[in-house]
Amino acid sequence: MVPRALFSAPAEHFALWRPHLLAAFAAEGLDVALTDDPAGPWTFDYLIYRPGGPVADFSPFSRLKAVLSLWAGVEDIVGEPTLTVPLCRMVDEGLTRGMTEWVAGHVLRYHLGIDAHLAGQDGVWRNGVVPPLASDRTVGLLGLGELGRAVAAALAGLGFDVRGWSRRARAVPGVESAAGEVGLEAVLRASDILVTLLPATPATENLLDARRLALLPEGARLINPGRGSLVDDDALLAALDAGRLAHATLDVFREEPLPPGHPFWAHPRITVTPHVASETRPETAAEAIARNIALGERGLPFLNVVDRAAGY
Ligand SMILES: NC(=O)c1ccc[n+]([C@@H]2O[C@H](COP(=O)([O-])OP(=O)(O)OC[C@H]3O[C@@H](n4cnc5c(N)ncnc54)[C@H](OP(=O)(O)O)[C@@H]3O)[C@@H](O)[C@H]2O)c1
Repeated sequence: MVPRALFSAPAEHFALWRPHLLAAFAAEGLDVALTDDPAGPWTFDYLIYRPGGPVADFSPFSRLKAVLSLWAGVEDIVGEPTLTVPLCRMVDEGLTRGMTEWVAGHVLRYHLGIDAHLAGQDGVWRNGVVPPLASDRTVGLLGLGELGRAVAAALAGLGFDVRGWSRRARAVPGVESAAGEVGLEAVLRASDILVTLLPATPATENLLDARRLALLPEGARLINPGRGSLVDDDALLAALDAGRLAHATLDVFREEPLPPGHPFWAHPRITVTPHVASETRPETAAEAIARNIALGERGLPFLNVVDRAAGY
């Protein structure tokens, strides 16, 4: 019997994804009946999921083999009690490359002091401040998962002194890595620029609170493309207002879209980007979905299954 897959996402996404998914199914030798119409939930074998679509309750989907998330972050559904089949998160080369490029760009903005030159187009020749080499700048990376490891490797490749931190100790070539609270504090103390690529889980909620932000060196910068819940917003604002932290670039927020009146928008030491660090790109990510359906159809274990207890 031909497996049936429901695409559950905001309506405009289906037209974008459909041709790429069909091409990826064909490349895997799969015949899949793909639709965005959730009628007859008990007939579906797979649910391709992005937040904001029509499905919130998974209980009527009685023959589902897996839910395949289009996003790497799964905090929206990982705790959903009606979801009892494997939940697979998105791991995709395009997503990883996008994040690597975005983080590298924002790290280099800070490292090279680009803002001073953008603001200094006034006829005054200021050549007194030369940026140090990357090897003289320490970048801390909280999270050494699929994205964090790629970002760490790229920054180390540029010559930065990269220190990484994760739940379990990870070996990343060219990167000094740590785990545990003591390891976290050591990374924070060393980081001229701190990048957060952790998932939103109960254990990472407000990880960067006032105490831990205070461990960063004077004048440090924060780049958060992970999740808004990682940072205590008030503690961050206080550290920036006091000049303890020089600047923050924030891509993700507790409430998205970030409300127009939110203090982050107008803060002179904050750059807001609208959750654009890395988008899941159908051109490459459709293959990841097709690969998992092909595994499921052969009765093999799915890839990138979320650890429900850990929440990511
Ligand atoms: N802004 C954007 O556009 C965008 C795009 C994609 C993803 N994201 C965010 O990026 C996050 C990371 O994605 P990924 O694919 O790299 O995820 P991943 O492969 O699951 O990696 C997560 C990393 O975080 C670490 N971690 C998790 N909980 C921790 C804890 N309590 N203490 C210390 N370390 C912890 C993990 O440690 P272990 O290595 O020990 O497991 C792992 O190194 C996503 O969850 C999402 O929130 C944002």
